[in-house]
Amino acid sequence: MINILGIGPGDLNLMSIKSKEIIEKSNILIGGTRNLKPFKNLNKELFYIKSSMKEVLDFINLNLNKEIAILASGDPMLYGIGKYLSENLDCEINIVSGISSMQYIFSKLKISMNDIYISSTHNKRPDFDFLLQHKKIVMVTDKEVGPYQIAREIEKRNLRRKMIIGENLSYEDEKITILNSNEVKDIEYNLNVVVILDE
Ligand SMILES: C[S@@+](CC[C@H](N)C(=O)[O-])C[C@H]1O[C@@H](n2cnc3c(N)ncnc32)[C@H](O)[C@@H]1O
Repeated sequence: MINILGIGPGDLNLMSIKSKEIIEKSNILIGGTRNLKPFKNLNKELFYIKSSMKEVLDFINLNLNKEIAILASGDPMLYGIGKYLSENLDCEINIVSGISSMQYIFSKLKISMNDIYISSTHNKRPDFDFLLQHKKIVMVTDKEVGPYQIAREIEKRNLRRKMIIGENLSYEDEKITILNSNEVKDIEYNLNVVVILDE
């Protein structure tokens, strides 16, 4: 069986009991370096996802007789590998949802997620004209388009928004910064989620 498990934003206490049970029973764990790190000392074969998803598919297809758990950060179906794998694997799969980094930050902020617009700059450039029409937005980001670049898109349109930058969420060095879009600096940010509010 191929299991795709949402392991939450990082703190293992936020992972579901179901995902933990499946990990314990699995022979092979597949994931990125950050996601596999807490499980390095379990007696399991580890396969690290690098850049090629084709490599991951080939590895899975060669090991279909084993119990495989693919560890996805947050929720696998929210800008995660769940979509690609469920569309490209020709075998039975089980997906277990997890707490997304985007859900996590809203609980920390005590702001509801009702009517929110969810997007991403991860490997893509969103349509900011469309995006900024929404009053409450949350985005996962990458190194190319992060908090500073998002703030510039807001300012370029002569808009002003409140921005919340959530770095390393749920880890010991978690940092949540609340700024106006004109105050966001061009500095290096850690792994982050950005919330944009039109208040
Ligand atoms: C490929 S997306 C995966 C999103 C994931 N499926 C989720 O639901 O959180 C990767 C991006 O998620 C965000 N992310 C994931 N974990 C995070 C964390 N602990 N703190 C801040 N951002 C995080 C970052 O923007 C990162 O670049």
